[in-house]
Amino acid sequence: MDETSEERNLRKVIEDKELKWVFVGGKGGVGKTTCSCSIAIEFAKRRTSVLIISTDPAHNVSDAFNQKLSKTPVPIIGFDNLFGMEIDPSPLISGNGVSDLLGASGGSGSWDGLLNETNIGEMLQSFPGIDEAMSYIQVMKLVNSFHFDIVIFDTAPTGHTLRLLSLPATIEKSFAKILNLKSTLSPIFNSFSSMFAGVGGNSGEAAGGAPDDGRFSADSITSKMEELMPTIRQINKEFADASKTTFICVAIPEFLSLYETERLIQNLAKCKIDCRTIIVNQILMKESERNVLEVNENEECKYCLARMKIQRKYLQQFIDLYEEDFTLVFIPQLLHEVRGKEQLLQFAKFLLK
Ligand SMILES: Nc1ncnc2c1ncn2[C@@H]1O[C@H](COP(=O)(O)OP(=O)(O)OP(=O)(O)O)[C@@H](O)[C@H]1O
Ligand SMILES: [Mg+2]
Ligand SMILES: [Zn+2]
Repeated sequence: MDETSEERNLRKVIEDKELKWVFVGGKGGVGKTTCSCSIAIEFAKRRTSVLIISTDPAHNVSDAFNQKLSKTPVPIIGFDNLFGMEIDPSPLISGNGVSDLLGASGGSGSWDGLLNETNIGEMLQSFPGIDEAMSYIQVMKLVNSFHFDIVIFDTAPTGHTLRLLSLPATIEKSFAKILNLKSTLSPIFNSFSSMFAGVGGNSGEAAGGAPDDGRFSADSITSKMEELMPTIRQINKEFADASKTTFICVAIPEFLSLYETERLIQNLAKCKIDCRTIIVNQILMKESERNVLEVNENEECKYCLARMKIQRKYLQQFIDLYEEDFTLVFIPQLLHEVRGKEQLLQFAKFLLK
C-alpha cells in the first residue's frame, strides 16, 4: 500500500481503553457482521469481558460463530471472556414507534396533545409505544447490569440503526415530559388510570401495578419510567461521549455504498455519535499489492479487470472525501467466506495490519 498505510488500520480503536460502546453499521451485505465479530474477538484479547449484540433481525452473528445465541448473553465457544446475544429491535423501530406517539413536537400524537384533547382512544393506542420504549430500555438495563467492559453492536442496515440510536434521546425527552405532566396533572392521570383499568376489565386495580392482562395502568407506567430514567440518562450521556462511544462504518468501493456512507455519517453527526473509522471491504486486490489504487494490469479475467477499475474509482473517492477526517481501513476480497473462530481471527489481521 502507499505511504499512509501505517495509519490505515483499526489499532487506535481496538487499543483504546476507555471505549464502552462500539457500533458497526453500513449497507446490507458489505461485511458488518464479519467486521463486528472480528473486532469483538480482538477486544476479547485486550479487555476483561466483551459482549457482541446483534440488533439485526436476521441475526447472522450466530452464523459467523456457528453457534446459537439468545436474548441474554451466552459465552461464545472457544473464548472465556467473549459473550453474544441477539435482540429483535423491529417493534421498536417500526412506524408507530414511541417517538411518533410521544413525540416532543406536540400535536394530537403527543401526550400534551392527548391531554388537551383528552382523546382517550388515541391515548390508549399510545400504550404499545410505551411498552416498546420500556423493552428497549430494559434490554439496555440488562446489558448494563452485566458490567461488560465493552459492548459491540452488529447493527441492521442503516435506516433501522439510525432510529435505534436516536431512540434513547427521544425516550428521555418523552419520559421527562410525561413525568413532568404527571406531577402537575396527577389528578387527571388518576382519573385516566381508572378508565384504563376499566378498559382492561380490572377496575379494582385502578392505581396499582400491571393488571393481569399485561396492560399497565398510568401510575404503574410512570413509576416504571421513574425507575428507568437513570439508565436512560446514563446511556444518553455515554452515547454522546466520544471517549465512550464510537460508530464504525463498513462500506464497499461502489457508488451505492459510498452514498450510504455519506448519509450515515451525516446522520450520526445529527445524533451526536462519534464516527472516526470507515472500513472499505471486499477490495479486489492481490495481497502482495503495494498500492490499493493500482490496478493489476496483468489481470487476465476481463470481468475482474473491469470490476477492479470501478472499485479504484470509488476507492479514490473514499480517500478524497474522508482520508483527512477519518481513518480508512482497506480489506481485500478473500477467496472464501469468513466463518468460525479461526477465519474471523484471520480476518482481524487485516483490520490491524
Ligand atoms: N473481505 C471479504 N472477503 C470474502 N468474503 C467476505 C468478506 N467480507 C465479508 N465476506 C462474506 O460476505 C458475506 C456477507 O458478509 P457479512 O455477513 O459480514 O455482511 P453484513 O453486512 O453483515 O450483511 P447483512 O447486511 O446481510 O447483515 C458473508 O458470507 C461473509 O463471510
Ligand atoms: Mg450481518
Ligand atoms: Zn474474474
